[in-house]
Amino acid sequence: MSDKKKIIIIQPIHEAGIKLLKENSNYEYEIVEDLDNTDIKSKISKCDAISIRTANLSGELINASKNLKIISRHGVGYDNIDLKASKEKNITLAITATANAVAVAEHVLFMLLNISKRRNMYDDTVKSGNFLNRNKLPKTIELWNKNILIAGFGRIGQCLIKRCLGFEMNVFVYDPFVRKDIIESFGGKKIENLADSIKEMDAITLHVPLNDKTKNLINYNLLKTMKKNCIIINAARGGVINEVDLDRALNEDLIFGAGIDVFEKEPPDQNNPLLKNEKVFLSPHTAAFTEECMTRMGIETIQNIIDFFEKRLDNSKTIKL
Ligand SMILES: NC(=O)c1ccc[n+]([C@@H]2O[C@H](COP(=O)([O-])OP(=O)(O)OC[C@H]3O[C@@H](n4cnc5c(N)ncnc54)[C@H](O)[C@@H]3O)[C@@H](O)[C@H]2O)c1
Repeated sequence: MSDKKKIIIIQPIHEAGIKLLKENSNYEYEIVEDLDNTDIKSKISKCDAISIRTANLSGELINASKNLKIISRHGVGYDNIDLKASKEKNITLAITATANAVAVAEHVLFMLLNISKRRNMYDDTVKSGNFLNRNKLPKTIELWNKNILIAGFGRIGQCLIKRCLGFEMNVFVYDPFVRKDIIESFGGKKIENLADSIKEMDAITLHVPLNDKTKNLINYNLLKTMKKNCIIINAARGGVINEVDLDRALNEDLIFGAGIDVFEKEPPDQNNPLLKNEKVFLSPHTAAFTEECMTRMGIETIQNIIDFFEKRLDNSKTIKL
């Protein structure tokens, strides 16, 4: 019997990650498209490691494992993994901690600029032969000197603040778990009370994990207190903003627009009202889908597995269960 460690790669990753395994004789691997694979339970029962992207790894599947030692997330969020079952089976959960931040931070600015500069409307105007309507179009908005709130000041929040300061925005940070002096050392101002401060913001961007405390963090009660020119971006997780409340607030002109990369249900239903709302700028959970970031994530996902078995996986890459 082979003493090679067996890795199941659930949902394909960048070839650069696979190359690490091709070059290492200590591992054998199998790539499965997704969890619909009919043999998935049997495959999991025999594997030593799993690499997984966004598919939901249930307690039932984790409990089917006999040798599983590590689940390596391709990404940093882990709300798709059953943490209770992982903990009970003493499984290590790793994330690609160093791969994502720049790509997501750039995506936030991409959304913020597209919405504030009314990208769709202006682009359509020229393409439809209506250039001379330029004086009749509603005006665009500058980022300069505007107040932006970063909610969640971890890897992505800390990467984003530098870029917002580059646009000379006034950056406020809401993160009860990060000290004031640390936030100030980045050039931000710490906010203690979200509801009080949110009224002053021209933009709000979310970078918190999805959990019981952050679900529906942004709801109608908060939305109705925001400035009418406020733009809100969610590239964290669906559910941190209540989608029905957001659609209502946009339709009632309570805020200017929203950039949404992540949805409560993915893919979203076609009748999800946000898909038809012209004030919403959407992307299909692709904030981290730069060529560079996908390469980094593919490599880091596999490297974390190798480092784990070689007993050199850094604690900063694992989640305490
Ligand atoms: N759209 C995408 O493709 C994409 C890519 C990467 C990450 N993400 C999401 O972005 C989130 C942030 O990623 P990260 O790498 O910066 O994570 P991180 O763990 O480094 O940072 C999260 C921060 O949120 C703070 N936080 C936790 N609970 C909070 C609360 N109730 N209120 C305010 N702050 C709170 C934590 O203190 C921490 O500083 C992830 O959880 C993930 O779900 C999305």
